[in-house]
Amino acid sequence: MTWKLALAGCGNVGTALLEILHRKGAELATRHGFDCRVCLVTDPLRGVALNPEGLDLGTLLEKLRNGGTFNGLPEGLGSFESLLARSGANLFADATPTNLTTGEPGLTHLRVALSRGVHATTSSKGPLAVAAEELESLAKRHGALFRYEGAVMSGTPLVALIRENLAGCAVTKVEGILNGTTNYMLTRMEEGLSYGEALAEAQGKGYAEANPTADVEGWDAAVKVAILSRVVSGVALPVDRVDRTGISALTPEDLRTAKEEGRRIRLVATLIPDPESPVAKVAPERLPLDHPLASVRGATNAATLHTDHLGPITITGPGAGRTETGQALLTDLLAIARLTREEN
Ligand code: HSE
Repeated sequence: MTWKLALAGCGNVGTALLEILHRKGAELATRHGFDCRVCLVTDPLRGVALNPEGLDLGTLLEKLRNGGTFNGLPEGLGSFESLLARSGANLFADATPTNLTTGEPGLTHLRVALSRGVHATTSSKGPLAVAAEELESLAKRHGALFRYEGAVMSGTPLVALIRENLAGCAVTKVEGILNGTTNYMLTRMEEGLSYGEALAEAQGKGYAEANPTADVEGWDAAVKVAILSRVVSGVALPVDRVDRTGISALTPEDLRTAKEEGRRIRLVATLIPDPESPVAKVAPERLPLDHPLASVRGATNAATLHTDHLGPITITGPGAGRTETGQALLTDLLAIARLTREEN
């Protein structure tokens, strides 16, 4: 079958997804049976590109590279719901920016898509922080698949590892470095930078959220732990139930002292997914050097999953980045195509 994709958000991540689809379209069709046309792209700054027969990705990407706009701005061309209906899309990718308080604009887009039975993926944590349960049940009610690999560890496949590869295995504990900004800052502070210098560098490299308080006070990692609770055990964990301490009180001196004592301070997110009373926290921890998370440096993320059948498994990889997160959306789209094929 031919998939018709709608994409919301044409910033770094959305553009990266379009680039991958353009570059690898033929390979995705032959190797993965994923024959996909992009029928709708909406972006608050670039406007709307719509063609139910499929847009020319080369032309679209050229416009994006040159800072150009599409046909017109979304508000001039109708609601997202009417655009989605006109596009005939049966797949939706949300690559809009994260807002942890409102979940918007991704939340509205996902509600619209899932209510129409359109399978959806998002790379944004916002909609999940605000309404994960509602979106999951909306998807179920309308026979749509809803995936969000990119919300935790970007394209590093932690969510798929837990859901698919470890199926049948109980995950009894998760320990993770889930925020790249703070891990980068701690690494640089160990090397002698002040807190402010390290934060400025992390912002300059594009790791930090628009409001870096979300990173340094542990909110970003707390949202990711809450998402993992749902993935690991299906238990909804409100973000405010995550016991949270950030890194803003740490000094380079704390990091040096830890080093002298053969330890390394890392902002560790811990989840013990007990169905009765799950334990979830984010806090700086003084890890011994032989701990699998102690050697994780820079903006890299990692998670150690403690399991009943396999013991501990550690996965390490990027936790942010344009192509990395574009890959997360792609892997979800391919999974949706595979799963719906298996159903039929
Ligand atoms: N600000 C986040 C981080 C981006 O530093 O990990 C990816 O979620």
